[in-house]
Amino acid sequence: MSVTTAADAAYLIAALLFIRALAGLSKHETARAGNFFGIAGMAVALIATVVLAADERINTLGVALLVAAVIAGALIGLHRARVVEMTGMPELIALFHSFVGLAAVLVGWDGYLSVERMPFGHEAFTFRAVGTYGIHHAEVFIGVFIGAVTFTGSIIAFLKLSARIKSAPLMLPARNWLNLGALAVFAGLTTWFIVSPQLALLIVVTVLALALGLHLVASIGGGDMPVVVSMLNSYSGWAAAASGFLLNNDLLIVTGALVGSSGAYLSYIMCQAMNRSFLSVIAGGFGLEAPTSGERDYGEHREVTAEETAELLREAQSVIITPGYGMAVAQAQHGVAELTAKLRERGVQVRFGIHPVAGRLPGHMNVLLAEAKVPYDIVLEMDEINDDFPDTDVVLVIGANDTVNPAAMDDPTSPIAGMPVLHVWEAKQVIIFKRSMASGYAGVQNPLFFRENSAMLFGDAKARVEDLLRAL
Ligand code: TAP
Repeated sequence: MSVTTAADAAYLIAALLFIRALAGLSKHETARAGNFFGIAGMAVALIATVVLAADERINTLGVALLVAAVIAGALIGLHRARVVEMTGMPELIALFHSFVGLAAVLVGWDGYLSVERMPFGHEAFTFRAVGTYGIHHAEVFIGVFIGAVTFTGSIIAFLKLSARIKSAPLMLPARNWLNLGALAVFAGLTTWFIVSPQLALLIVVTVLALALGLHLVASIGGGDMPVVVSMLNSYSGWAAAASGFLLNNDLLIVTGALVGSSGAYLSYIMCQAMNRSFLSVIAGGFGLEAPTSGERDYGEHREVTAEETAELLREAQSVIITPGYGMAVAQAQHGVAELTAKLRERGVQVRFGIHPVAGRLPGHMNVLLAEAKVPYDIVLEMDEINDDFPDTDVVLVIGANDTVNPAAMDDPTSPIAGMPVLHVWEAKQVIIFKRSMASGYAGVQNPLFFRENSAMLFGDAKARVEDLLRAL
């Protein structure tokens, strides 16, 4: 069997392992196995690629450099994965997407320059069908475009998620026309490049796509960032697939398509969960108006102590806990799990209500609660629990804010208007654990805090949950 055939077989196995990984990752119970399949698939793919390159294309020094790059990359990746806080995952993922975008740009440029370097320039292709020649140029151009949009878009997402720049949407005048104009120019340039592949056109499309990626993501507001991350995930997949066509690498095409389509589907599901138009989000907040609701006076808020909260819980029959980003920051999940166990021992019905975008990444709360060994069957999705709040005695809102904001339903001028939220205010009593009256990720005030049946338990969520445990 030739090395090429063996590598093709290895690529097929790797592709199957990636599909198994995706299937595994879709459920809590199988997520660990899914992760394992993904790692195994990537190991097979890397080994096959190095062996194939050594056999076909590059000399010993090249192989040594390739292996050194793989080892260095693996070490950096391992280190980052070990030290990253769960709350820092989305920004790390955004940064990874930017690398995929950059790689696609470099592969595209290399694809163009290596053809230019051939002894007779473009004539080297004349023995091929004209169609093949055009397809190669289209692959270069489209790959560079998607890669560059992904690159700058992901960097802006990284900066917004890590709060290095403000998450508010950039509202340039005629911004929708800027985006549409850029797409029209790209279509025109692609046709031109296929007919006459000039370096100047490649430079223009690279600059255009870098600017478009920057503008697309900068125009999307804080509350819609979850969709942006999964959308950039999708773009990075298509960028990888484009590189696969250019490098004639089937595995890259399959993997890119898997990432591209699953990312697009995830974005679609998240848009549905947040009642956002998918097209408007991927078009950089198309049709979005600048928010008009200013700071309103909602009156006075009420404060409670951990002891008073313990008193309420002693009397309660049913409790719902709605965790959010603050629980992750405070690492309060273990205390929350202990509190849950304690209340359940006393015969109180305790359940969790999980908003689809609570925290900073899909499934963020589920992962934390699973880590703290909260039983899966009491962790319910928003839609499964939203009708049960009127029959609930006490709701503990632990570090959540936007996901429990009634303004999303009551105030059409709110920047998060239309986003489905957990109806916590319908319960008899709501206790909100947070450190101050500060707003959440979307930067909007929350009228829940001023309702008559709400009270604030100020302080770090972990410390307050521990106080509560002691008081119980
Ligand atoms: P947020 O609206 O972000 O609010 C979290 C609250 O936690 C803050 O108001 C903060 O108030 C409080 N907090 C922070 N540290 C705390 C600590 N140590 N102890 C106690 N409280 C603490 O949270 P959410 O309700 O989970 O909503 C998520 C938001 O993030 C949504 O707007 C969503 O669109 C966005 N987002 C989500 C994702 C995904 S995929 N889940 C990705 C990116 C963005 P204090 O400062 O007063 O303590």
